Amino acid sequence: MSFTADRLLLFGATGDLAQRMLLPSLCALGVDKLIAPDLRIIGTARQDLDDQGYRNFTRAALEKFLPPDRRGSMAEFLNRLHYQPLDANDTAHFHSLAEKVGPIERGLSIFLSTAPSLFEPTIAGLVAGGLTGDKVRIGLEKPLGTDLETSREINDAVASAFSEDRIFRIDHYLGKETVQNLLALRFANIMFEPLWNAAHIDHVQITVAETVGLESRAGYYDGAGALRDMVQNHMLQLLALVAMEPPASFDATAVRDEKVKALRALRLTHPDETVTGQYRKGAIDGQPVAGYDDELGRDSDTETYVAIKAHIDNWRWKGVPFYLRTGKRMPQRRTEIVVQFRQVPHSIFAGRGARTEPNRLVIGIQPEENISLSLMAKVPGLDRDGIRLRAVPLDIAMPDAFAGPTKRIAYERLLLDLIEGDQTLFVRRDEVEAQWDWIDAIRASWAEHGVRPKSYTAGSWGPSAAVALTERDGATWHE
Ligand code: BG6
Repeated sequence: MSFTADRLLLFGATGDLAQRMLLPSLCALGVDKLIAPDLRIIGTARQDLDDQGYRNFTRAALEKFLPPDRRGSMAEFLNRLHYQPLDANDTAHFHSLAEKVGPIERGLSIFLSTAPSLFEPTIAGLVAGGLTGDKVRIGLEKPLGTDLETSREINDAVASAFSEDRIFRIDHYLGKETVQNLLALRFANIMFEPLWNAAHIDHVQITVAETVGLESRAGYYDGAGALRDMVQNHMLQLLALVAMEPPASFDATAVRDEKVKALRALRLTHPDETVTGQYRKGAIDGQPVAGYDDELGRDSDTETYVAIKAHIDNWRWKGVPFYLRTGKRMPQRRTEIVVQFRQVPHSIFAGRGARTEPNRLVIGIQPEENISLSLMAKVPGLDRDGIRLRAVPLDIAMPDAFAGPTKRIAYERLLLDLIEGDQTLFVRRDEVEAQWDWIDAIRASWAEHGVRPKSYTAGSWGPSAAVALTERDGATWHE
């Protein structure tokens, strides 16, 4: 049902995500007049605050995490905010929450980011408090379970109160502008799609490298590891967008139908097609950083790095490896997709001493948003000693190409879509389940073969075995 909600209920309203992303995004949307003036925002969490206390809390978060030029006067935004303390395990609390939310006949959007153990009591509480129904939709932030089974439990609990068209599973990578631009690149240009297949593409690389370590998330991260924290969601979504067939239209059903087909075509990964690592002490940007065990304060077998050679068993991608890698404490923060094309079938320049290199498309997602296509060109000269060719980049730096539009936080887009009810950039249940299916099989094979993470020095690109993973196929990680 299409409606724009006039109430937004934020669970986890005093948490890290709320401070860094949600509140700044909502304030910026308010300043840009993209949310209605009468949108009422109700925060809830365990912490005992009143409305004014929450407004003070929010003001501090905005001053810290939202650039001054996007804050506006803040007062207008702060006045929208209300707060109700809540113990999610106590159903009675949901009645007070419902009173605070007020009438919901014009529509309520809920943003739920909570510990997995609180999902079920929260849904039960929402039902008891009358905060479900046709005019209520719910956004769910990860982690949504730790494997297929637990994800199903959460999804079943949510489905008992909300129909799928009112469930918005968040993968914040889908809110990133360049990730959406991938669809424009593929489907708004004629020149890529005819080449976008096994006949012309040698392999694809997806890298999500981070310089940060554990931060303050030891409890969560050590139980998750890189495979579940990054590959299960963000990286598989990127893979699906690269690999999917063209959808008939840019709408939620068409796009998600195609993504899920690609995800279901992932082949079970062989143990020697994965490499795991855990960082030891080292240096990043010249600054010494501790090893994972030291940060954690005990030994652990959790992987902070993973590289995988993935295969998509369908007609388009037969024989084209998708190399995925992600790690904490890498030398740079870099998220990118590299599409490595094949060599020309025959080089007319070979007899004149020139070497041709295959074309390569690099889609930079962060920190820089850019798209670069390497093309072979002749080095200028009279060619007395033979022809020389060199790869030259055709670069589009997005901030230069689009100087006007504001660079937005990924959550601005997602919160707006949640309020207005557009599911295109949210993950459907069948996608999540296909993702877990593949991830669970990898974890089972690690357990079966007693795989333990190899050490790598913080500030390096991961264990040397990850280099071998691509080199033995004649491919090289893009660095
Ligand atoms: C989160 C992970 O989903 O994504 C974090 O839990 C990770 O471990 C983060 O740091 C990366 O997001 P971004 O937008 O900074 O690339």
